Amino acid sequence: MKSNVPARIDMSGPMPRHVAVIMDGNGRWARRQGLPRKTGHEAGMNAVRTTIEASVDAGIKILTLFAFSTDNWNRPSEEVSALMSLLKAYAERECSELVEKGVEVRVLGTLARMQPSAREAVERIMRETEGGTTLRLNLMISYSGREDILTAVRRLAARARAGELDPAEIDEACLERALLTSGIPDPDLLIRTSGECRISNFMLWQISYSEIHITPVLWPDFSRDDLFAAVLDYQRRDRRFGRITSA
Ligand code: IPE
Ligand code: IPE
Ligand code: MG
Repeated sequence: MKSNVPARIDMSGPMPRHVAVIMDGNGRWARRQGLPRKTGHEAGMNAVRTTIEASVDAGIKILTLFAFSTDNWNRPSEEVSALMSLLKAYAERECSELVEKGVEVRVLGTLARMQPSAREAVERIMRETEGGTTLRLNLMISYSGREDILTAVRRLAARARAGELDPAEIDEACLERALLTSGIPDPDLLIRTSGECRISNFMLWQISYSEIHITPVLWPDFSRDDLFAAVLDYQRRDRRFGRITSA
C-alpha cells in the first residue's frame, strides 16, 4: 500500500540519528510474482542501496540493517547459500561506491559461522570503508539480540570470576560496552517492512525506547519515499522516556 504523495521530511525538525531496519518480505515479494525466493533477496539488495542513499540525503548518521539472523541459519541450505553468495557479491560490488560516499561499514554478528569466502568479503569491506564519516552502516549478519546479550553476560561473568570486575558494579553502561553495538547510540527509529508486528530477536537491549514504524511495503519495494515517510512519522512522535513531557 503506497501513498502517491511523496513524504517530505521536516529538515529542521528532529532527525533520527540512528535508524535500524528489519528488512523483511523478500520471499513474499518473489512468491507474488511466481519467482524463486532467491530473486526476492536479489531485489532486496537494490532496496539496500536506495536506503543508504536516502539516509545520507536525510542526514541520518547511523543506519543498521538486519540482513541475516542467527535463526535464519535454520532455513533450507540452498536459501542460506544463496543469501551468503549475495552478501559476498554485495560487499565486493558496492565497496568502492561506499568509500566514495563516506560510508563506514561494520558487520556485526557471529561471523565465524559464515563461509570463509563470504567472511573475507565482509571483513574486506570493513577494512576498506574504515574512516568514512558521512554514514555509519551496521550490517547485522548472523546476529540475534538474545545471543548478543548472552555473550556479553558470559564475558562479564568471566571477568568477575577472574576478580577484575565487582558484580555490584555491573550497570547498564557496563553491559552496553560488552555488546556488539558497544559505543553506538541506541536506534531512535526502528522500521520493519512487510507488515509483521514483531521484533524477531533484533537488538532487544538497544530498542528499549526506539520509536517503531511498521510498513506493509515488502523490502524489495522499499523506496526513498518509504524511508522519508518513516522519518516523518518519527518526527510526529512524542518521545517521553517515562516522563510526562517530551524529552
Ligand atoms: C527478509 O525476507 C530477508 C531475510 C530474512 C534474510 P524474508 O526471506 O524473511 O521474506 P519473507 O518474510 O519470507 O517474505
Ligand atoms: C527477521 O526476519 C530477520 C531479518 C530481517 C534478517 P524473519 O523473516 O527471519 O523473521 P520472522 O521469521 O518472520 O519472525
Ligand atoms: Mg521474513
